[in-house]
Amino acid sequence: MHPIIATGTGSRWVDGYRAGTADGFDLGAASAADQVRAVDPDVVFLCSPNNPTGTALGLDVVEAVLAASDRALVVVDEAYAEFARPGTPSALTLLPGRPRLVVTRTMSKAFAFAGVRLGYLAADPSVCDALRLVRLPYHLSSLTQAAALAALRHADLLLSTVDAVIAQRDRLVAEPPALGGGGRVHAVPSDANFVLFGGLADAPATWRALLAHDVLVRDVGLAGHLRVTAGTAEETTAFLTALDAVLSEETA
Ligand SMILES: Cc1ncc(COP(=O)(O)O)c(C=O)c1O
Repeated sequence: MHPIIATGTGSRWVDGYRAGTADGFDLGAASAADQVRAVDPDVVFLCSPNNPTGTALGLDVVEAVLAASDRALVVVDEAYAEFARPGTPSALTLLPGRPRLVVTRTMSKAFAFAGVRLGYLAADPSVCDALRLVRLPYHLSSLTQAAALAALRHADLLLSTVDAVIAQRDRLVAEPPALGGGGRVHAVPSDANFVLFGGLADAPATWRALLAHDVLVRDVGLAGHLRVTAGTAEETTAFLTALDAVLSEETA
């Protein structure tokens, strides 16, 4: 959506690429800073974690990107922040003294409230004031705001499923290497409510085989990889059992 929305506002969009750390899906500070210097953008979007890869960015990446430009607004998209692994710092901690940093979040994920279409951000007061000037006039209905306020009053209840989802997410990262197929399947470390797993010889074929076992995952178009969303313990077990069977069939 970031490129679609940017293009819709008449902005030129430049895709970055993920490189600079041992895991090919991660984004290293030096690489990110080089890319920003090369393009000299007005706005940089950093997804932490990125979808579909799922691993949160180190704050060194955010700091390096801020330092690589003296004018770019740096937006850190923390849509999945509530699912972060312990010790994963939020870019919110960098906000004091950094007026070009914006941290965005959403009620769609941890609050399981995607239908309300409510996102929010934290930034320097000068950025918030400027946004009030340029935002669309009717961007958030009063019904939406009332629903969100009611959800916030029940935040403890609505967020109570987060720990359960994290437990299943951690199973989805830990267990695939022990499945059939001789341990060739691995999962990318996740700070989100989904897990990208790789090592598949033919991801579309594995997707179809999982569907034949009544398990629907997402083919995100990355060679050898599929993405699975964390659900209930029963759903996780059903997925792992089906994947084990599919991998064993493939290697038989
Ligand atoms: C990285 C990332 N940011 C933001 C969102 C947006 O969520 P929403 O538009 O529902 O607030 C998503 C949803 O999939 C996402 O993956």
